[in-house]
Amino acid sequence: MTAQPSQPVVLVTGAAKRLGREIALALAAGGWRVAVHYRDSANDAIKTVADCALLSGAAAAFDADLGDEAAVRALLPRVVAHFGQVDAVVNNASTFEHDTAASFGFASLDKHLRSNTGAAIVLAQALHAHVTARNASGAVVNLLDQKLWNQNPDFFSYTLSKAALEAAGTMLALALAPQLRVVGVAPGLTLSSHLLSDEQFAARHQLSPLGRSSTPADVAATVKFALENTSITGTTLLVDGGQHLMKFERDFSLM
Ligand SMILES: NC(=O)c1ccc[n+]([C@@H]2O[C@H](COP(=O)([O-])OP(=O)(O)OC[C@H]3O[C@@H](n4cnc5c(N)ncnc54)[C@H](OP(=O)(O)O)[C@@H]3O)[C@@H](O)[C@H]2O)c1
Repeated sequence: MTAQPSQPVVLVTGAAKRLGREIALALAAGGWRVAVHYRDSANDAIKTVADCALLSGAAAAFDADLGDEAAVRALLPRVVAHFGQVDAVVNNASTFEHDTAASFGFASLDKHLRSNTGAAIVLAQALHAHVTARNASGAVVNLLDQKLWNQNPDFFSYTLSKAALEAAGTMLALALAPQLRVVGVAPGLTLSSHLLSDEQFAARHQLSPLGRSSTPADVAATVKFALENTSITGTTLLVDGGQHLMKFERDFSLM
């Protein structure tokens, strides 16, 4: 398939694997040309680019450490230089390291805030400037987490960084309108980690009013919906089987 200039372009951060890859593939299947951002996962990024290109005709990989402000500021212009335009950003990449109220320190807070909050804001800022210069419009989706509505004290700095991103979403939706819409998508437990066995993950995935949390396909479809529905801004879509309505004393990975 050959891509057409009329096909919109989306930058998906952390798109080499896991949820970011699912989002990239879902958007490519919907005709989006995809900029696949990665940091360390170069080989996975090449595979995601190839799979997206089969679906939409055009994709490319871009590396950047989202903890480095200069690298973040350079990222969107690099994508514009490649595709000629960018219409949307999906802030999916995330640092997720464990700390608690007891082990909390500035170093952990700084690391999480840079990649999870600061980078997302700078990319929204850059997209706003770019679409405004084109006399166009665009959208940003920020990946949040149901645990903001159902807090526990694990992953203290991660949770703070996502809470700040949720607040930033409200402010950016006001500040960057009407050119840009800003929408949060908050998954429940969707993919496992090295902290959980397959059996533990399956059991915890069922802990919700609906008896199942979100799947990668659920989350990716919601991101696509948020990007393509031109009346949604300044709000968050929780995609979690209702886990945010429950109370968990610990993070799923540490229960
Ligand atoms: N997984 C879940 O069940 C779940 C639940 C709730 C919310 N979420 C949210 O959904 C999103 C995706 O979740 P996930 O589990 O797929 O994420 P993940 O695997 O923890 O991380 C996604 C990617 O983020 C990139 N990344 C991390 N720090 C970075 C940095 N400083 N600079 C550049 N890239 C960086 C990494 O890319 P490289 O590998 O290329 O280095 C990583 O592969 C996250 O925002 C997460 O908070 C996920």
